[in-house]
Amino acid sequence: MASMGDIIFWSMIVLIVAFSAIIILFLALSFSTSSSSNIESDNRFPVANLGEEVLLSCQLTPAETPQVMGDVAVAWTKANLSGVVYKYKDGAPQLADQNPQFSRRTSVFPNAVARGNGSLLMAAVRRGDDGVYTCSIDADTGAGSVDIHLRTAVYSTLTFSVSGGTLTAAASRWQPQPGVTWLASNGTALHGITQFSRKPSGVYSFVSTLKQVGVDDVYTFRVQSPLVTGTSKVTITGSGVEVETRFSFSAGPSLSPSQCLVPLASLLIYAFGAT
Ligand SMILES: *[C@@H]1O[C@H](CO)[C@@H](O)[C@H](O)[C@H]1NC(C)=O
Ligand SMILES: *[C@@H]1O[C@H](CO)[C@@H](O)[C@H](O)[C@H]1NC(C)=O
Ligand SMILES: *[C@@H]1O[C@H](CO)[C@@H](O)[C@H](O)[C@H]1NC(C)=O
Repeated sequence: MASMGDIIFWSMIVLIVAFSAIIILFLALSFSTSSSSNIESDNRFPVANLGEEVLLSCQLTPAETPQVMGDVAVAWTKANLSGVVYKYKDGAPQLADQNPQFSRRTSVFPNAVARGNGSLLMAAVRRGDDGVYTCSIDADTGAGSVDIHLRTAVYSTLTFSVSGGTLTAAASRWQPQPGVTWLASNGTALHGITQFSRKPSGVYSFVSTLKQVGVDDVYTFRVQSPLVTGTSKVTITGSGVEVETRFSFSAGPSLSPSQCLVPLASLLIYAFGAT
């Protein structure tokens, strides 16, 4: 005869097994939705610099020779926008229903299309180009689509000079107004003086100075806007400065572990609450 203790013990085991199964099922589902598509993109959350060009990447996988893939058709559309952004089919652009916003600004690479690469080059990016683009590819070896979330920003290169023990950083186009930071090589924040000027277009230029720098000193200068961060490592040399700059971009809102955990946690709370 089972005691109360046994019943509770076995109930717990059953619950643990049941929840493990639910968790495995949940993880399997969330992974399968992202991998069942046979279209890949190098970057689903690109940031374009206004006025410049941006590549929206999209590739049918596995990539095969043009003989194997047959005629490859590519169509790019934008959410909530009529017509196509670009369409390539039967070996030629098909632009009869292209939205005028994209006329003469978009293209694919015909040689790459033949190998299942439908990447779109968009030139002279404008503010209204933000949004969700869908790349659809159709070939003899398969078909599929992927969404690319394009965001736009304004940022420009950083230039540095040193004179009379003062290090100066300057940039001509950032928007919105960025935050700037100077750091010593040991990571301590240093006090620089920054002057911003706002052009009528709303774009900012700035000049930032750091006093009392010496030969062989190494500083880090960081300029940060919501989507773009520029980080320069500046070494003072006998004759000027040596600079290494890199730009990084805010990652998109991809499915993070915390987004997985919230529904899981509410599932568990619901189940335990019900017992
Ligand atoms: C498209 O329009 C719908 C309804 O107007 C809106 O809910 C959705 O957020 C829009 N999508 C995009 C990407 O702008
Ligand atoms: C697709 O083609 C473009 C243009 O040649 C190239 O820049 C890009 O890297 C290619 N993408 C892939 C995934 O091969
Ligand atoms: C870090 O470097 C700065 C400037 O070189 C110096 O003033 C400061 O004392 C250093 N701080 C530490 C904790 O080493």
